[in-house]
Amino acid sequence: MEGLRLNAPAYVKNARLIAWVSEIAALTEAAEVYWCDGSQEEYDRLCQQLVEAGTFKKLNPAKRPGSFLACSDPSDVARVEDRTFICSQNKADAGPTNNWMDPAEMRTLLQTGDQALFKGAMRGRTLYVVPFSMGPLGSPIAHIGVELSDSAYVAVNMRIMTRMGKKVLDVLGADGEFVPCVHTVGAPRVAGQKDVAWPCNQTKYIVHYPETREIWSYGSGYGGNALLGKKCFALRIASTMGRDQGWLAEHMLILGVTSPAGKKYHVAAAFPSACGKTNFAMLIPPAALEGWKVTTIGDDIAWIKPHADGRLYAINPEAGYFGVAPGTNFETNPNCMRSLDKDVIFTNVALTDDGDVWWEGMGEAPAHAIDWQGKDWTPAIAKETGAKAAHPNARFTVAATNNPALDPAWDDAAGVPIDAFIFGGRRSTTVPLVTEARNWMEGVYMAATMGSETTAAAAGQQGVVRRDPFAMLPFMGYNMSDYFQHWLDMEHKLEASGRTLPKIYCVNWFRKGADGKFVWPGYGDNMRVMKWMIERIEGQAQGEEHFFGISPRYDDLSWAGLDFSREKFDSIIDAAPEAWRAELKLHDELFTQLAYHLPQELKDTKARIAAHLAG
Ligand code: OXD
Ligand code: MN
Repeated sequence: MEGLRLNAPAYVKNARLIAWVSEIAALTEAAEVYWCDGSQEEYDRLCQQLVEAGTFKKLNPAKRPGSFLACSDPSDVARVEDRTFICSQNKADAGPTNNWMDPAEMRTLLQTGDQALFKGAMRGRTLYVVPFSMGPLGSPIAHIGVELSDSAYVAVNMRIMTRMGKKVLDVLGADGEFVPCVHTVGAPRVAGQKDVAWPCNQTKYIVHYPETREIWSYGSGYGGNALLGKKCFALRIASTMGRDQGWLAEHMLILGVTSPAGKKYHVAAAFPSACGKTNFAMLIPPAALEGWKVTTIGDDIAWIKPHADGRLYAINPEAGYFGVAPGTNFETNPNCMRSLDKDVIFTNVALTDDGDVWWEGMGEAPAHAIDWQGKDWTPAIAKETGAKAAHPNARFTVAATNNPALDPAWDDAAGVPIDAFIFGGRRSTTVPLVTEARNWMEGVYMAATMGSETTAAAAGQQGVVRRDPFAMLPFMGYNMSDYFQHWLDMEHKLEASGRTLPKIYCVNWFRKGADGKFVWPGYGDNMRVMKWMIERIEGQAQGEEHFFGISPRYDDLSWAGLDFSREKFDSIIDAAPEAWRAELKLHDELFTQLAYHLPQELKDTKARIAAHLAG
């Protein structure tokens, strides 16, 4: 492609970037190249284009100012784990939890073969150049990426989800490093034919080359498949960068927690998808716990680097929230609902007759709405056919600055020092409400073996547990066991500084009683557990030691404003030996799967727990 058609603005100084854009434009045969500057004017213009193309509906400005609704193709509604590949040179480096393909073979399939999918994939479409910073601009913890996408929907979402545009290229300069991300919806336009509202392709590939730090995504316009800064870069590629460079890229929210004495702590917490992560990220402490305050730094991902002072500092690499809408309401997450008052892109929720949005679990149902597939929806239709107004994975995209509980340090280039890590799965039995690891090793064991139930458990019974180490199963960029080793090694790196390491906790909000109902109230009351953690860090709270850590007794937690009996508490804090003997068998299965490079320390820890349970 001749230089002219590249349209690179004068402020683009990075020769490698220009050459790469030119190469991809030629490969994909894009009709034109557009460099996103990240301005409000550009955002408004692209949103207007999306309205004209039928991709966006503008919501009623009196109800939801500055907001839009997009409805995807019904086949393109979620991340596609089975189409996600880690193409490392050696299969063993991707590990048993990832799909792998030889990188040369994948390149033939995507780029170089006669039928290569990216060849001509953007014909008739605009290639948007989207420069973005994961993390505050210029932060020593941040890294830059550039996404080339043929979707204006991606460009506008990326402006919310990342720091995006000219300011990023200014930081990149003439020879800065960036992670190249190529994305196409895989639907070249045929001249003279009207475009569909949500172009995509039935064939999908979400491909990562960890050695060359590249991302190639084909066929989907949705979420983590298409907004490549999020799961693809900030977790899969960044985890390999962290391994090589001595830092951590984690599927963790980050909170600021201020005690009544005015002391500020920071915790990072990992939960698998659908375990109330957004609610925890925006938690409002019960009024009865006077003086405690929680603020949000991040809701999904944390990049954490060791600092010269011997502590771990974390940033939220993202600038917005791409959260699940269904189930969100004013009762369980008022901060989230208030974040959605204005300037939101909704995807796959229902459109009400007054031009607003609705989803299951939001509150009273409208008498009539248009569902996410464009069909009439009424409560009667739902009752009769089971039709959902919103897709269960319907999303909102919103700037972090909309969050009324945003932490003032959320954009601090230095990051925040982490005092505690929390790991939590969804388990109806077995795992206590909260356990403190007695040492780093024990904490890594808890994180490595965490799991979540995938099916609703019958009363008192355990459902099918999907092991989700560190809540990273779908997001690991390399061999899971090497990642465990990386975490174990971090202890020794930090220890040398003589500082206290962050404490590690394992939590489970989801124990069920004999009646099949959740015992723990959750939501804001999770603050009671977090208060105990902070008081443990301060050396104030007590607990009781058991075979895999320390848990609070009833009187170690504050119960002000909550009627929760000692008996109920005992039923969710216990670690019953017989349940744990069965649990260890499941850990065995995981360790067998991850046997290659599994750290000996983890096997030793399991053996210690087993010996205790046997004795
Ligand atoms: C997410 C997820 O979308 O974890 O954040 O699935
Ligand atoms: Mn997530």
